[in-house]
Amino acid sequence: MLILGIETSCDETSAAVLRNGKEILSNVILSQDEIHSPYGGVVPELASRQHIKTIDLIVKESLFKAKVNLGDIDLFAVTQGPGLIGSLLVGLSFVKSLAFYFDKPIIGVNHIEAHIEAAFLENPDISFPVLALVVSGGHTSLYYMSKELDFKLIGKTRDDAAGEALDKIAKFLNLGYPGGPIIDRLSKKGNPEKFSFSLPKIKDKSFDFSFSGLKTAALKYIKEMNIQADSPQVYDLLASFQDAIINFLIENVKRALSIYKKINALIVCGGVARNSRLREKFLAFCTRTGMPLYIPSPRLCTDNAAMVASLAYKKYMAQKKFDLNLDAFPRIQSAKGKKWK
Ligand code: KG4
Ligand code: ZN
Repeated sequence: MLILGIETSCDETSAAVLRNGKEILSNVILSQDEIHSPYGGVVPELASRQHIKTIDLIVKESLFKAKVNLGDIDLFAVTQGPGLIGSLLVGLSFVKSLAFYFDKPIIGVNHIEAHIEAAFLENPDISFPVLALVVSGGHTSLYYMSKELDFKLIGKTRDDAAGEALDKIAKFLNLGYPGGPIIDRLSKKGNPEKFSFSLPKIKDKSFDFSFSGLKTAALKYIKEMNIQADSPQVYDLLASFQDAIINFLIENVKRALSIYKKINALIVCGGVARNSRLREKFLAFCTRTGMPLYIPSPRLCTDNAAMVASLAYKKYMAQKKFDLNLDAFPRIQSAKGKKWK
């Protein structure tokens, strides 16, 4: 079975062809970083315009790389949300037209769940129950999975996402966009112990996250000490800020592991899971506690269509039904009461 997946939820236009939901024949990703970089963040209107300009070329290239034709595709897969509404609609309408023309099934998937799927794509034998942490530019969410396709959201950010906090501090310091990879690189030159950050306290028993306090604390240091991109303290500040974010993520996971007993594996995924320090610290934590850890390879951490195609395949095999009447869900909450198809 050949699946064509499309991902346009934010600022990457991506198309992938997978065989039987497992074998990646192609996974083409076109980033819009250059377009949004002058603004220091994603401009929704520019994002959707760029998707519409490039989606046909990206799909063509994914088919060419996979050495297949559109007519060979058995299942069409697309991200339904969460994401930017205009961007989501570009991918949805493109895929709907193809499914309609070729009279083939179409499956929509949840973008955050697709990030988790990236880990299963590379490691099909991960043993359940699983705790999955998604850390990206738009989301920081913790899921409990008792079995395949069973995504139970147990914690989410109450304000900024982890990647968003990194991007905003980088923007404030005029370091460039996206800030996450830049902070990753510059932090290597700094001492993470130099600046102290107190970790956010979530007062209830939820596993929610909050990063705006850490962001405000970093901004305060920057303003009070007049730290500039070329100041000698900048590396120490970035290293300390990055470590505070990672330590908070680990603390929350630790707490969830103490409540959700008998977890067999931890997945950490999403764009921020590319971060070298995060990978190092989670690995150290899991080695210490004997918890098997799965972090997708860097290319599968950031937005890509292979994870979308893979999840859609599983959903299709599980439910065997589909319909063309797919809507976009820009927010996690907007899917409430409605069923993700
Ligand atoms: O998953 P993703 O591609 O898009 C969303 O679904 O949001 O994640 C993008 C985020 C951005 O905030 C970016 O700064 C961050 O991932 N990111 C990183 C690294 N690479 C990407 N953050 C820290 N270190 C990195 N190496
Ligand atoms: Zn994403």
